[in-house]
Amino acid sequence: MGSLTVRNVSEDVKQRLRLRAAANGRSMEEEIRLLLAESSADAPIAATPDARIAKPAGTPAASRILLIISGGIAAYKSLDLIRRLRERGFSLRVVMTKAAQEFVTPMSVGAIAGEAAFTDLFDHASEFDVGHIRLARDNDLVVVAPATADLMAKMASGHADDLASAVLLATNRKILLAPAMNPAMWGHPATQRNLKRLIADGVVTVGPNAGEMAESGEAGRGRMAEPLEIVAAAQALLAPAPGPLAGKRIVITAGPTHEPIDPVRYIANRSSGKQGHAIARAAAAAGADVTLVTGPVTLPDPPGVKTVRVETARDMLRAVEAALPSDIGVFAAAVADWRVAEAGERKLKKDGSGPPKLSLTENPDILATVSKLKSKRPALVVGFAAETEQVIEHAKAKLKRKGCDWIVANDVSVQGGAMGGDDNAVHIISASGVESWPVQSKDDVAKSLVARIAAALTGQSK
Ligand code: C5P
Repeated sequence: MGSLTVRNVSEDVKQRLRLRAAANGRSMEEEIRLLLAESSADAPIAATPDARIAKPAGTPAASRILLIISGGIAAYKSLDLIRRLRERGFSLRVVMTKAAQEFVTPMSVGAIAGEAAFTDLFDHASEFDVGHIRLARDNDLVVVAPATADLMAKMASGHADDLASAVLLATNRKILLAPAMNPAMWGHPATQRNLKRLIADGVVTVGPNAGEMAESGEAGRGRMAEPLEIVAAAQALLAPAPGPLAGKRIVITAGPTHEPIDPVRYIANRSSGKQGHAIARAAAAAGADVTLVTGPVTLPDPPGVKTVRVETARDMLRAVEAALPSDIGVFAAAVADWRVAEAGERKLKKDGSGPPKLSLTENPDILATVSKLKSKRPALVVGFAAETEQVIEHAKAKLKRKGCDWIVANDVSVQGGAMGGDDNAVHIISASGVESWPVQSKDDVAKSLVARIAAALTGQSK
């Protein structure tokens, strides 16, 4: 047993350690680690991970890895693996089998890991005994490196006669194995049978690689994967699963448009942009590549979304066209139907000759334009309809007129309160009928709409 535990010392030394730890406000483990660091110039303790090495994008904050080292010559590489994982900000606990301790000492593992290694299933004497169930569960991923033929055999048949195998049987986390053994052992039908069973149980493997073995004259498949390969596999397993819209491009319009009368005055409407922005956020959370074309609103740019801010309907159309081709188009903007035909270049003056005559001209219909595109039409085009009466009838007519696939219709009469508010009650009108959703927050409408879009694109509905 290495000196990072306090098992083989007398009770009064333990008591002194306890008092010292309490006086310094440190845990027992920390206290012993610091003591060891003070007394050992050549076993420095990496107190904090190297801050220059950035945590890779997509790896959840403070991911905890339980590393199990079993007994093979490749165990020496586990020290480097520990260092690489810590550099990347993972917090680590290490379990070593009895055989592993023949290759590397718990002392060197503990010094590099920043915490004493766990070695015994029944270790009541140790202050570090957290129990195999907690060890098995208090982590986000279990990595076994090296994984010997023997440990794989035990896992495949569900043995639990030491700490490593008990933890592996008790864990409900993903397990990553980095097998390492002699090529003849790797190729043996028993090992291959065990491997198959483990893979069927959901275990993931990295390596083994082909090449020279540590034993002289031996070559073939059986070398443990390199530490950085194991780190990369662990990071991939810890990254969040790709969202249902991963790899899809979506363009969304939101907010009002401002149509100038002169340089200081404009025609506008009461749209807040909240629903469109919420859809952009929900689509980004679902993994889509999102372009949000928004009219003037007071909302911040949603994170992870390409946001294009525009003023007028014509600018909005240009920005939408620039965002094509796209798989999905959602047109939630309250685009002004008309603009002033000849907006004054200078501020209109009250010159006593009465109010100015403003002649209006029609704005481009962005939804209809995109719906009728020949080559760049998104596979799914969704329009919105703000109605104050006969909501569903008008929305059905709009679906036809605009040529889109769905209309999301809402009641913006005073009772409805959708414009500017935080809640919305919508109906989804498509060729397959009408779906009416209960009043819910605009965020929830957005999430449900994005889920429905994802289902439609994978052919579950349209
Ligand atoms: O015709 P109406 O304005 O009621 O249609 C609403 C739908 O059409 C919304 O999806 C809106 O974003 C879109 N629209 C548009 N361009 C316009 C007018 C409306 O994209 N000029």
